[in-house]
Amino acid sequence: MGAPTAGGQDGIISLWPTAFVQRRFPGHEGPNRELLALVREMENANRDLTTDYLTPDLFNTDHPGVNWLRAHVNQTVIDYFRYLGIDYPIDWTIQGWASINRFGDYHDAHNHPRAYLSGTYYVKIPTTMEKLKTRKDLRPGCITFYDPRGAVNMNAIRNDPYVDPEHTVRPEPGMLLMWPAFINHFVHPNLSKTTRVSISFNIMLKWSDHYLPDQT
Ligand SMILES: [Fe+2]
Repeated sequence: MGAPTAGGQDGIISLWPTAFVQRRFPGHEGPNRELLALVREMENANRDLTTDYLTPDLFNTDHPGVNWLRAHVNQTVIDYFRYLGIDYPIDWTIQGWASINRFGDYHDAHNHPRAYLSGTYYVKIPTTMEKLKTRKDLRPGCITFYDPRGAVNMNAIRNDPYVDPEHTVRPEPGMLLMWPAFINHFVHPNLSKTTRVSISFNIMLKWSDHYLPDQT
């Protein structure tokens, strides 16, 4: 149970916000070529790469593309904690895996249990879609995130921040998304004959008792 707010606190505060990272890394073209070559190599050794994601841990590889991505992910985590106002030392590891989505592949809505943060970095995104007689409102290859607070949109009115219970991103190569691991997300089907390649990761905290909130 939290302590009551100080009697002197005044004004409007933002309660229970959800911090979500969406950033693009300039100069990603070279590292993405390296990462793509590595993912292809891994796929040749393991045809079930996408669904067999628990092994091996991609970020434990000493490889120029992975080293570049690891540095950018770590910097993003540092920025994230700073944004939240967490100003004490945190220790974490990155666990990552590659996903290759071929025509029709998608990922059901899910979250990432036991992780603190989760994220995805985009290596290759198809630019051409198959011409299919499907609905016009499909969002192939996009990723949708859902408001973790069920049904808060039900009484929302125009311009209040709760109107849209989902946030959909059309990824681009060089883009990184990162979010609290409890957020459900869904990857829409790839409707291209070319592959969609991404690297997903979990930020796992190495526990320390100084992470515990003050109990007063
Ligand atoms: Fe996921």
